[in-house]
Amino acid sequence: MSHETMSQHSTAADGSGDRSLDPRLAAKARELAAQGTVLLRNDGVLPLAPESRVALFGRTAKDWLAVGYGSGGDVNPPYISNLTDALRESGAVKVDEELAAAYDRFSEEQPADPGTVWGKWPTHYPELELEDEQIDAAAGRNDVAIVVIGRAAGEDRDAELAPGSYFLTEQEESLIARVSSAFERTVVVIDAGNVMDLSWAERYSISALLIAWAGGMESGSALGEVLTGVREPGGRLTASIARRYEDAPTAKNFGDPDVTTYVEDVFVGYRYYETFAPEAAQFHFGEGLGYTSFSFGFGEFSSDATRARIDVTAKNTGERDGDTVVQAYIETPDGKLSQPARRLAAFSRTGRVAAGESAAVSLEVDLRDFASYDDSGATGHRSAYVLEPGTYRLHVGQSVKDAEVAGEIEIGELIVVKQLEEASSIQKGCGFDRMVLNCGDDGRAIVGYEKTPEEERDLARRILERLPEELPAPAEGGSLPSFEEVRAGKVGLEEFVASVGTEDLIALAYGDTTMDSPLGVRGNAGALGGVTESLRERGVAPAITTDGPSGLRVSAFASLLPCGTALASTWNLEGVRELAELHAEEMLAKGSDILLSPGMNIQRDPLCGRNFEYFSEDPLLTGLMGAAVVSGVQSKGVAACPKHYAANNQEHNRIYSDSRVSERALREIYLRGFQIMVEESKPRTIMTSYNKINGVWGHYSYDLVTTILRGEFGFDGLVMTDWWMRMVEDPNFPALRDSAYRVRGGIDVLMPGSKEHGGDTCDTGVKDSLGSDGGLTLGELQLTALHVLRFILEANPQGYATSAEKGRRNLM
Ligand code: BGC
Repeated sequence: MSHETMSQHSTAADGSGDRSLDPRLAAKARELAAQGTVLLRNDGVLPLAPESRVALFGRTAKDWLAVGYGSGGDVNPPYISNLTDALRESGAVKVDEELAAAYDRFSEEQPADPGTVWGKWPTHYPELELEDEQIDAAAGRNDVAIVVIGRAAGEDRDAELAPGSYFLTEQEESLIARVSSAFERTVVVIDAGNVMDLSWAERYSISALLIAWAGGMESGSALGEVLTGVREPGGRLTASIARRYEDAPTAKNFGDPDVTTYVEDVFVGYRYYETFAPEAAQFHFGEGLGYTSFSFGFGEFSSDATRARIDVTAKNTGERDGDTVVQAYIETPDGKLSQPARRLAAFSRTGRVAAGESAAVSLEVDLRDFASYDDSGATGHRSAYVLEPGTYRLHVGQSVKDAEVAGEIEIGELIVVKQLEEASSIQKGCGFDRMVLNCGDDGRAIVGYEKTPEEERDLARRILERLPEELPAPAEGGSLPSFEEVRAGKVGLEEFVASVGTEDLIALAYGDTTMDSPLGVRGNAGALGGVTESLRERGVAPAITTDGPSGLRVSAFASLLPCGTALASTWNLEGVRELAELHAEEMLAKGSDILLSPGMNIQRDPLCGRNFEYFSEDPLLTGLMGAAVVSGVQSKGVAACPKHYAANNQEHNRIYSDSRVSERALREIYLRGFQIMVEESKPRTIMTSYNKINGVWGHYSYDLVTTILRGEFGFDGLVMTDWWMRMVEDPNFPALRDSAYRVRGGIDVLMPGSKEHGGDTCDTGVKDSLGSDGGLTLGELQLTALHVLRFILEANPQGYATSAEKGRRNLM
């Protein structure tokens, strides 16, 4: 499709007219947007028959929603393709121009205006009111109707259980009702970042239902190709869709402004539905259709102690070429610890299989990776990952719902997989009743509750016992080493850090105070590292951060890419990695050193406003997708910054709300994705979250960052805050407050640096407390500097000045 007919943006926000983007990145984005499209129902209407006459209903067909709102979506693409034009230009079908013209007129009269007020973006746009006669006339002229329903999600704003948000508006429902009764064949497309209620799909005669996730600037074209059969709709759901929102396990515990209690514990999403109420899920995790069908045959199942390998033959039983996703789920024996009936354990896309042919896929699973964390001591091994004895079954299929037993492993005696220590546990007096699995009289699984354990460890003591040593002071009178000498291997990094004066050590713990730092490309999110003249004189470059998951948020034009959910729905790790590699080249070209991406929070509840930035309700899929993005980005030398660590699962009052969650659920669900990603891809940076986790803000949490992230997961990069932080005194150490409390926690850099939003001065927490009685030690501050400088050393930000940006960026 030519870009001329798409919605055009003539100049970027920085006034430049350079519209050129990497065509390879655009092509990969289109391929993945199509592959992430989830087809939930199809009676054969799709792909559209050649030459079909198609009537497009719903303004979103033209006013295409390609991204969510907020930091993760605020990208300036030079164009956004839309479905109407894509179908028109495909030449494969004939678009009803009379109807299209009516929508064009309506769009001109009432433009789809996203507004400019942060967090107040519209979740939908009002629809054109059509008369019954218009619909009937269109039915007379056309073979198929396509109704497009649009929903936009965004940061700082959760969806609501209201028409126009989670639910259809009356106008939308009436449109679907009237169109589906006037037309013999109606296709409904949901163009959205987040899931919405789909219960109405049962009430109307709908031939096909698809979800096209906010898929970036190429997504209108991508969907056009899917509908006309040029590509397959390859997506599989990465989160379950409840028949009724009230049936979701989190429904009663979401959105409280102060405290959100994670009562469902490890029974998140499909882990709940499959265990207790499969019928409550209208669409199941892993579900999605292609344009052909597959049947699976199970070959050899071999197992050795805790490891299993299963060979699967996926036969294309349909008439078209296509591919599918082979999914394996573990069923864990219920023991002292309650267990979800299914957990995703491995998956693989087959790749293209010709009609009638088969593909061989091998999946490997080590049960040790799926051990359970005993936070109460119920198994006799408190704070340990254990495998309880019993039969572990591996189910394999094309979704969680249709997976069948493919093999079993017997564990004779309890195995302690790893003994850890209590961390980030529920504070004293804050325990609650969490969901457990009970057995009903008829033998069926029923929901029960047990009291969560509360903290026992002495955090203050742990911190004091592990305070880092001060570095040996440099010899007196010697000249100060330069960072180039460190680079050349002539001076050790620690030696360099020891030579940095207090003022610069403090400066390294803060960003350059503002977003759009003058040290970097216009529209950047902030700078860190060489933020003072004196650091730069010694050779320490500033590193420039930019948002975010759906493309580069800079003032210049940049590629708008499929959102996190769209990418994860492809279940295509290699494809996502390739996209990230190309994206990294765009970072290099446009002056970004650190991409504030991927978004890795768990889609705990369907209403979370930022779900579109995240991958899934499942930690394995989240972790592997995160690793694919990180390793793709970092393969080109620039850095990724996975976020938001951790349990940032709602937007409402996100900077104050406290996510109360058991240590078990925290580790098995909310941290697990981060752990997998860290182990697989070694991110150079990571971002903490806005919210509190068990009473402690992410940007202060010693346990989350130092005990777990660095100590257990082996993270050795730089930890930064989410933008700005809440200034308070350390409850354990009264001589510490604000950034001193943060540095003691191991959170290296406050971003973008200023004390408050929009301010231009840093807090004085570190300065005030350093060396005071009971205050921050020099060793702690040096450790922070070490993390920052190691990052600068390894990521080697160069000042990638484009000609337009010279001077602003190239300060070295
Ligand atoms: C968001 C982050 C984002 C940062 C910088 C915050 O509001 O939560 O995800 O990276 O802003 O724009």
